[in-house]
Amino acid sequence: MAAAEGMFSLAGRTALVTGARTGIGRAVALALAAAGADLVLHGRDDDLDEVEAEVRKTGRQASRWILDLSDPARIPEAAAQLGPVDVLVNNAGIIRRAPAAEHSYADFRGVLGVNLDAVFLLSQAVGAGMLARGSGKIIMIASMLSFQGGVNVPGYTAAKHGVAGLTRALACEWAPKGVQVNAIAPGYIATANTERLRADPVREAEISGRIPAGRWGEPEDLAGAAVFLASRASDYVNGHVLAVDGGWLAR
Ligand SMILES: NC(=O)c1ccc[n+]([C@@H]2O[C@H](COP(=O)([O-])OP(=O)(O)OC[C@H]3O[C@@H](n4cnc5c(N)ncnc54)[C@H](OP(=O)(O)O)[C@@H]3O)[C@@H](O)[C@H]2O)c1
Repeated sequence: MAAAEGMFSLAGRTALVTGARTGIGRAVALALAAAGADLVLHGRDDDLDEVEAEVRKTGRQASRWILDLSDPARIPEAAAQLGPVDVLVNNAGIIRRAPAAEHSYADFRGVLGVNLDAVFLLSQAVGAGMLARGSGKIIMIASMLSFQGGVNVPGYTAAKHGVAGLTRALACEWAPKGVQVNAIAPGYIATANTERLRADPVREAEISGRIPAGRWGEPEDLAGAAVFLASRASDYVNGHVLAVDGGWLAR
């Protein structure tokens, strides 16, 4: 038991989670804190009081890093304010829904900017310190739409396919230097991101009926995978996209 606890312990590590205020980012941040990590909570705005208080309840430290990721070019300079980060979770993301024939270029580019460009630039900025120290964990948040086409979300699908590719590309270059890069592909999770789907009775029934587990996921369902990929238990796991989807892809 002690060995297993040690294997998954994040004591002494600092984890940066983007988009930590709500949904999956909040749940992952709290899971990493419960496993022993101190947290750097990223938010678009400085409204992280609730999640910061929850982190402190676990006995861990919490600090904040505020940046709007819709202008990814600002990332290299803003990331210079960060101290050493042992675990980076690239979670922040947006979705814009409109049929491909009408999908505006602004929406397409906007989604690519937050969901892919920002992920590359932050991984590069934070990864530099990991490479210099010879250790680190980067966890991308991919999607079922890293594997499938989806409906009415061409920019999101393009970005999430890109995230899976970037995960493998960084993993290949950084594995020999002690940095593991992997991704979690959540299935259909009840968060703000999926509010419109859940509000549409036809789409809601289609989706629920196809999930072998028989229910939508909750953000907390991602906790175990996040702790695994952040801990030394995954030291020989590189470039993997781990589906946590109630069996959606298996169907
Ligand atoms: N829910 C699902 O079923 C599902 C499935 C697969 C993948 N995902 C992925 O999981 C991740 C988290 O999504 P979620 O479902 O937890 O939805 P969410 O509750 O909407 O969380 C999205 C987070 O990203 C942050 N964010 C968005 N735009 C930003 C920007 N320009 N600058 C900085 N932060 C920004 C949001 O900050 P604010 O709070 O300030 O808006 C929020 O914290 C996303 O990458 C999403 O694509 C979700």
